[in-house]
Order: sequence, then C-alpha cells, then structure tokens
Amino acid sequence: MKLQRIQSLALLVALGGIFPSALHAAESTVNKLVIHADQGKETIDRNIYGHFSEHLGRCIYEGFWVGANSEIKNVRGIRQDVVAALKKTKIPVLRWPGGCFADEYHWKDGIGKPSKRPTMINTHWGGVTENNHFGTHEFLDLCEQLECEPYICGNVGSGTVQELSQWVEYVTFDGVSPMADLRRQNGRKEPWRVKYWGVGNENWGCGGHMTPEFYADQYKRFATYVRSYGSNRVYKIACGANTGDTNWTEVLMRDAGKRMNGLALHYYCGSGKTRKPATEINEEDWFSQLKKALHIEELVAAHGAIMDKYDPKKNIAMIVDEWGAWHSVEPGTNPGFLYQQNTIRDALVAGVSLNIFNQHADRVKMANIAQTINVLQAMILTDKAKMILTPTYHVFEMYSVHHDAKLLPAEVQSSDYLMGAEKIPNVNMSASRDAEGRIHVSLCNLNPNQPAEVACELQGAKANSIKGRVLTAPELASHNTFEQPDSVKPAEFKACQTTASGFTATLPAKSVVVLEISP
Ligand code: AHR
Repeated sequence: MKLQRIQSLALLVALGGIFPSALHAAESTVNKLVIHADQGKETIDRNIYGHFSEHLGRCIYEGFWVGANSEIKNVRGIRQDVVAALKKTKIPVLRWPGGCFADEYHWKDGIGKPSKRPTMINTHWGGVTENNHFGTHEFLDLCEQLECEPYICGNVGSGTVQELSQWVEYVTFDGVSPMADLRRQNGRKEPWRVKYWGVGNENWGCGGHMTPEFYADQYKRFATYVRSYGSNRVYKIACGANTGDTNWTEVLMRDAGKRMNGLALHYYCGSGKTRKPATEINEEDWFSQLKKALHIEELVAAHGAIMDKYDPKKNIAMIVDEWGAWHSVEPGTNPGFLYQQNTIRDALVAGVSLNIFNQHADRVKMANIAQTINVLQAMILTDKAKMILTPTYHVFEMYSVHHDAKLLPAEVQSSDYLMGAEKIPNVNMSASRDAEGRIHVSLCNLNPNQPAEVACELQGAKANSIKGRVLTAPELASHNTFEQPDSVKPAEFKACQTTASGFTATLPAKSVVVLEISP
C-alpha cells in the first residue's frame, strides 16, 4: 500500500477542484481525506502498540515492581494498579531488560532465591546498585499478568553465545536438561513460551561499539544457538540502525538477512527546538518536536527501501523497538533516571508515530515505545502508592481499536502548518477496518492554534453512523499531575457527522481524535 500525501494547498487547488471549499479557505485549515473502505490487505499488527521497559531509573523498580512485602497492592511483587491500567490499553508485547542494560545483564544473576542473587552496578543509568530481585521469573510473571507477549533482548556486548543459548533453554525447553532442570528447581515446572528474542541492543553504540560488518558476524554466531525447542518457535530480531544510518541496514540485510526474522530500528525524536523539560514549551518547540516526530516516516521509507532490495516479499519485519520523545529530566530528579513529564504534545507525537507505523503495516510488524513507566515517553508515572496516566497512555488506549485490523488505504490532502519558512501538514491520519466491519479513523490536528475541518470521502462503504473520542487540552504544556490526574483525558467527540459520501469532522486545535464509523 502506498499512501499518497499531498500537503500543499496550492497542489490541492491545482488538482482541479476535487475539494472546492479549499479555494476560499486559504487562511483556515481545509483537509480532504479519501479512504478506500472496500480495500485493505495488510493487517496492522497489534505489536505496533508494544512497549519497552528497561532496568533504568524507576521503570522496573517502583514502576512495575514493589516486592511482595509492599503495602502497595501487588501480586507476587508486581503492582496491580499498573497492570490493570496497561491491560485497558491491550498491551500486546513488552521488551526487556534493555536497552543498554541488556548488554551488561547476566541473566543467571536474576534467578533463584532473591536474597542470594548477586548485585551489579547499573553503569549506564545512574551507577546505582541493581539487586537483581526482578529477573527472568518476575518478568515472565509480569507478562502473564499483563496477558502480553514477552520480548527478551539478549546480551551480545558483554555476554557469551553459551549464556544466551542457555537462557533460551532455561526459559523454553520442556525436556530434561541442565537449564530446564534448574528452572524447575527455581519453581517453574512448565516452560514459558517466548517467541521474540533480540540478539543484542544498539551494538553500534552502548552494546559494544561494533561496525555493522563485525556485528553481522556476531549476530550469526549468537543467533545460530537461539534454538526453537518443542513447539516454541523463536523469532530472532537483529540489532538495527540508529536513526538514518542506512549503511547499517544495508550491511545487516546483505550479510545476515537470511538468518533473521526482524531487524530493529531506533529513533528518538528528541525534545523541542532545544532539549528542555517536557513542560517548557513555546510554539517553536511544539512545531519542531512534531516535525521531528513526522521524520520517522522518512526513516521507515529509507530503511524499508533497503530491506525491499534484499527481501522483496517482506518476510523480514522492521521492528522499531525503541521510539519516542526524549526531553530533559524533570528538574531535581536524577539525570541518569530519565524521568520526564508528558504533555498533550507527547500525545501528538504518539498519535502521528502510530499512524505512520499503521500506514507501513506491510513492513513494520512491531514497535516498542520507550518506556512504559517513569522513563522517557511513559504511559504511567508513579509516586510511591500514587499512579497517574499520561496523555500518551490515552492515545494508546484510544488507538487500540486498530490492533489486528485491516489497514485501509487513504489519501490525505492536508493544509499546511507554517512556522517561518518551514511547514508540516496540519492533519495526519490512518484508518482501519476491524473484524466486525467497523471503520476506525485516527486523526491528529498538529496545529495548536486552529481547528481543522476534515471532509472524508469513504469509497466503497456507506457511513450509517459515526461516533468518536477526542484528546485535547487548553495549553501547549497541558499535562496530568498527581494533584490533578485528569487534566488531560479523552472525552466524547461530537463535532462529526455522516454525509452522503462519507463524513465531516472538525478537529479541535492540538487534538487526537478517533472516529468509529459503522457501515
Ligand atoms: O531508552 C533509553 C536508552 O536509549 C536505551 O537504553 C538505549 O537502547 C537507547 O539509546
């Protein structure tokens, strides 16, 4: 599916009055969508809505894990308020234990009686002592409680082939073997099913500063011994490029493509014009952040084109296993803990990124936002027993209607949001049809000043009824706090109606809207 994006009003007019009202609306936002409701062959993999959680700051400890003796309600040490909240978003997959931490993590330190587990220094993240109380059993228990798929990232940078191979055996082997027996001694009789195994993380950087040629060889060595035992079929994910490093993708596809199921990509869209705390925003920062968020489309296209050359049938998935905004830490917090607030701007970052992943559903089969709790672009922030949901959380919950739905091809003619000599489209969207035949359209109005009028032609279906939900807020920096946890939350959206050919809607300034159309 090729999404055609026509972003300039001049071009829209040149198209010969497809949308005549554009002619008198040069100063407002006029936007036309065409959704091919009778088409759609790609499935939007639910794993596009995946998460990443690292032993970093307060993501695992305090975020997920409070320990069985905590006064905070928990099941076997895992806090239940966050489990319930994440289940509402239908969290599909969780990547762990890193990140940079993965390439210095030795999994055998995290099994057995907690009081006997050795400690280590978390050198990347604040130099704090890691007590290893949250290890393999606890992570897989967490995934069972969340009802999501685990995705384990192995240690290539400082680990051995044997160590990774034994981890797979420990977790997934059903028969009699040294590792399976050790697992049973540690209280788990049945093996777990773990499909997704990452072979290293950022091995071009914190995972060993390797060249792509060297890593491709290391990947083949390590991946050879990541075995499928019994009916557990492993899915091997190679470390992918940093942002625009297409040479990394080229070398990995050329030298190791035949031996991988997925190739990762990491892209952080930073902060505003300069890196500042999340809530310090002027309009230049707003524009700059969203422009950088939209850049992921070019990255997916550029890396995807190289993957197409070696894998035209698209058997190898692009796995965007770290993405999101990266602001300065909240003042007064540990700089190594990457704790940041989360505003309506971050909700727009999530909205456009997820729309772009949806649109590339033919290649992008998983994405994992960084990181679930208390770190970077989090879903959830905690303060001891208190927990709040961020604007980004609400986008994941609203967009969950796209999970495993058929992507509907669409064309967008968006007016421009101008900032000096630069411009980005006001409107960004994606559409899908679910198993019951309902059509969902997720729309972002990136403009913080003006509403966006949208007229949609629904080809091949009649819109009989329409309803929607909206996430918006009064200020650029609107966010939720422990004192005011519901400042930014979804509301019913009424500014939409069906028409003879589809529907119209008025998106408020700085909003994310999800519409449900029943044919
Ligand atoms: O998510 C924080 C860090 O960003 C991860 O540990 C690393 O993989 C990336 O550079």
